[in-house]
Order: sequence, then C-alpha cells, then structure tokens
Amino acid sequence: MPYRPEDDEIPNPLRPGLRAESAPEPCAVVVFGASGDLAHRKLIPALYNLAVGAHLPAAFGVVGVAKSEYSDDQFRADMREAVGKFSRTKPIDEDIWADFAAGLRYSPGSFDDPQTFVRLKGKLEELDRARATRGNRLFYFATPPSTFPTLLTQLKSAGLINPPSDPAFTRVVIEKPFGRDLASARALNRLVLETCDERQVFRIDHYLGKETVQNLLVFRFGNSIFEPIWNRKYVDHVEITAGEELGIESRGRYYEEAGILRDMIQNHVLQLVCLTAMEPPVAFDADAVRDEKIKVLRAIETFDTPEEVMRNVVLGQYTAGSVAGTDVPGYQEEKDVAKGSRTPTFVALKLNIHSWRWDGVPFYLRSGKRLPKRATEVAIHFSPLPHSLFGDGRTQPNVLVIRVQPEEGIALRFSAKVPGERYRPRTVSMDFRYGTTFGSASPEAYERLLLDALRGDQTLFTRKDEVEAAWKIVGNILKVTESGEFPPPYSYEAGTWGPQAADQLMAQDGRAWRRL
Ligand code: NDP
Ligand code: BG6
Repeated sequence: MPYRPEDDEIPNPLRPGLRAESAPEPCAVVVFGASGDLAHRKLIPALYNLAVGAHLPAAFGVVGVAKSEYSDDQFRADMREAVGKFSRTKPIDEDIWADFAAGLRYSPGSFDDPQTFVRLKGKLEELDRARATRGNRLFYFATPPSTFPTLLTQLKSAGLINPPSDPAFTRVVIEKPFGRDLASARALNRLVLETCDERQVFRIDHYLGKETVQNLLVFRFGNSIFEPIWNRKYVDHVEITAGEELGIESRGRYYEEAGILRDMIQNHVLQLVCLTAMEPPVAFDADAVRDEKIKVLRAIETFDTPEEVMRNVVLGQYTAGSVAGTDVPGYQEEKDVAKGSRTPTFVALKLNIHSWRWDGVPFYLRSGKRLPKRATEVAIHFSPLPHSLFGDGRTQPNVLVIRVQPEEGIALRFSAKVPGERYRPRTVSMDFRYGTTFGSASPEAYERLLLDALRGDQTLFTRKDEVEAAWKIVGNILKVTESGEFPPPYSYEAGTWGPQAADQLMAQDGRAWRRL
C-alpha cells in the first residue's frame, strides 16, 4: 500500500498525545550565538522552514545576540545567505522570506556585560510592539557551554525570566554539551533550577529529533522478530559510528574547549547506545522511555583507572589531507586552534554494559571529524555460525545496519546461494530506504525540536538525571585523557578513518570496523 501522510496519525511514541498540530503561541525567539555555526547552518534555516510549513504563529520574531557587530539589516542579509545555503527547501520563497525577515532583529554585545541584556530587553519590547509577540520568550543558548551559567545569571538579573505562573512564558533551550564534566553539569543543573523552573528548561540533543533515531524504538518494539535475538545469546558485538566529512568549520574556539568526547560522545552517541540497548519501556510515554535509557547509562561500566582508559580509548587528531577530493588543513592549522593543541577530533572506544541482556557484548563506538564520508549508523553484528556446512569462511555473520544518516534506512546482511549447481553462498543485503518507501523528505531534527519547544513539549529533551548519568561515564574518561598522563592524540590524515590504533582496538579482539 502506498504511504499516506494520514498514517502519521499514529502517535509518536516519544511524543505521546501529539496527534493534531497544536499551533504555538505568539513568541519571540532569542538566539544567543547568532553569529555562530549552529545558528547559520541549523537554527535559522529550521525556523524559516517552519515558516514555510506554516507552523509558526503569525506573531513571531527572532532576535540574534552575539559579540559580532551587525545592524538589523546586515543580520537579515547574513541570515538570508545562510538560509539560501543550508535550507532543506529551495529556492527561498520570497513572500515567506519577506515576512520572516521583517521579524528579524540583532542586538550585539558580550554576555559578560550586563548592558547587553539591557539592550536586549529594549529590543524585545520593540519586537513585542512591532510583531505582537506578547512578551513570550524562547531563549536559545547556541553558544559555547562555558557561557551557559553567565547567560542564566544575566537573564535573571535583567528580569528577563518570568516565573511559570506569569501569563507571558519564558523558556530556555540549552544546547549540548550541558556542562564540561559531572561536577559542572550538576552545578549547571542547580543554577538552572535556581533561575527557572524545570518546566521552563529544554536540554537539547538534536539526535533525538531525527526520524531514524526515533525509529530505533519502533523497529525494536514494533516488530516481534528482532527482540528475542536482541541480546548476548545472539549478538556478538555492536558497532556505532558517527563520522563526519566536516572539520571544525569556524568553530575553533568552541571546539578547543569541547573536543570529540564532549561534542559527540557524551550526548549523541550515548543516546544511540541507550536506544539500542534499553529494555522495552513499560509504556510509550516520555518518562517510561527515559527511565529505561537511564538504566542503560547506569549499567555502562565506568573506567575507574588510567589503565582501563588506556586499554579502551583511542584518541586522534586530524592533520592536513584530502576529503572528497578537496585539500583541507590539519586541525592545528584551523582558525582559533592553538598550535600544539591536544584536543581530540576522533575517538574510538569500547564499552561494556553490565546487564543481563548485554554483559560480555562489547559496544565499539567511534566518532570523528574529517573522515572520508558522513556516516552515522548502528551495526548489530550477530554471532557467527556454530558450524559451517559450506566450507570455512564461506559465510559471513549476519549484520543488521541501522543507517541514521545519510541514505537513511535499515539493511540486513545474510547469506544466499549463488545460482548454479554448487552450493556457493554469497553475502547479500536486504535494504529498506526511507527515501524510496516514504518519498517526502523528513523535516530536520531542529525543526521538530524548535517546534516542540515553541509548543512547550519537553518530551524529546533530556532530563536532568539523564545528562548527569552520561557525564559520569564520559567524565571518568576525560579525567584521565586530560590529566597529562594520557599520550597526546594520534595523528590521522584528514580523509582517512582515524588512526591505526583505532583499528588495533578492534583487531585485538579479532574484529574489525565496518568499511563504510
Ligand atoms: P560557534 O563557535 O560557531 O559560535 C559561538 C557563538 O557564541 C558565536 O555567535 C559567538 O559570537 C557567541 N559567543 C561566544 N562567547 C560569547 C560571549 N562571551 N559574548 C557574546 N557572544 C559570545 O559555536 P557553534 O554555533 O558551533 O556551537 C554553539 C553550541 O551549539 C555549542 O554548545 C555546540 O555544542 C552546539 N551545537 C552545535 C552544532 C553545530 O552543528 N554547530 C550542532 C549541535 C549543537 P561571536 O562569534 O560574534 O564572538
Ligand atoms: C553537533 C556537534 O552536536 O552535532 C557538531 O557540535 C556536529 O560538531 C553535529 O557536526 C553533527 O550533527 P549531525 O546532525 O550533522 O549529525
């Protein structure tokens, strides 16, 4: 049967009850970090696409705030260029853009300066008058994590955070990484709760807004044939890759304080681990799903000694090379990166989950910048045959690959007989592709999450305890890798799959990374 959009009436398990569109109330979105990469590549294009889809209220505006100096008109021109380049829908619809651009404002200033927030308040009041946004505010922290506490404190001191009881709502969307380690995440959670109410806080991990990530739940718990074999009896190991062709773009300042463990592992990759490894929730509601995810995080072994980290973690940093036929500089040649920097841009690590389902099944994770291609996937490697009837090495173990991006889909690798008189097995693949089956392009993760935040739906945002549990795992690794006892990251040439030591991590267990 062909796909019909009405089928979407099936409630989203991660967002129960959200069947019909509920239009957001009038609102002004304040993007802190508006001159940065995230605002250009994702946030403003996502807001524009929400306007294209008629999801935004008529009374709507955006104020950009960052250190760089722009006038309102310069900001509009810059955002138009960003939308032209990064929008999912092309070309720009001139009528929709004209209305969207009329609601764009810019207010420059350092977050350390209280005057920045006085000016912002004035700008917001002007926007309320011009666009009837009624004092409703969504503050989006698209800034380096070190600025989150300052932003919260300054907003509070400037009287820009209304209590939840106020008729005009205040919501705060906080980007990842939420803190730098467990202690700072806890301190940030405390500060968040001193400045606002938990109901006003949206800790974002945009991987949860991706269709393919949400589909992990439907695939696992909406089919009866996979769950019985989804465990240590049948699974040999699990491999998760989150690879990017991109380098750090213009984000040297941010990246130098983050590195790959904070940028990708603590959040996106651990979310993939959770959804792959969790037990069936007792119900498909937000808290039941989060409760199961937290159990996975708690069951992941934490490395308590430097030796454990050394044995299980490999760090890398890219040097100059060629990606997709283009020469690119090494990490240390990038803007705002210190010469001699030891910030890792690649990590490979092996985790064990001490639970009845997974004990003894290693989870190998790798993530990196400037790899040969963009590829995020979860690969479940099933156990080899106990005995082969077709000759040693003639059959390969089954592998189920969930492609998160690109070429979103699911493939199952199995053996089939090559036609002919002999019993010659060959590995073939059954492949489901979102694009072919469902046709239309899915909205970007940021569109979905921004719309949820505008509607006040917190379901796809991470809970306080979830963030802290993830930090416990990554924090222990960071304590060692940043202590000076750990060797500097291995170099790898841009356009390769990371340092050889990453291959070694698998090879020592008699395994190898998938060739993507
Ligand atoms: P960038 O370094 O590109 O941008 C940082 C922004 O913050 C700039 O606009 C910068 O202003 C502003 N800023 C920093 N410090 C101050 C300050 N003291 N006063 C005023 N402005 C300041 O970072 P990204 O946009 O890449 O990342 C921002 C956040 O978003 C991070 O937490 C990151 O983890 C998260 N994120 C990023 C993604 C991405 O694809 N880029 C995806 C998912 C999450 P100026 O340059 O004008 O000085
Ligand atoms: C962000 C990281 O959280 O995720 C970036 O800060 C990274 O460094 C990005 O490029 C990857 O997101 P996606 O959706 O392109 O996989």
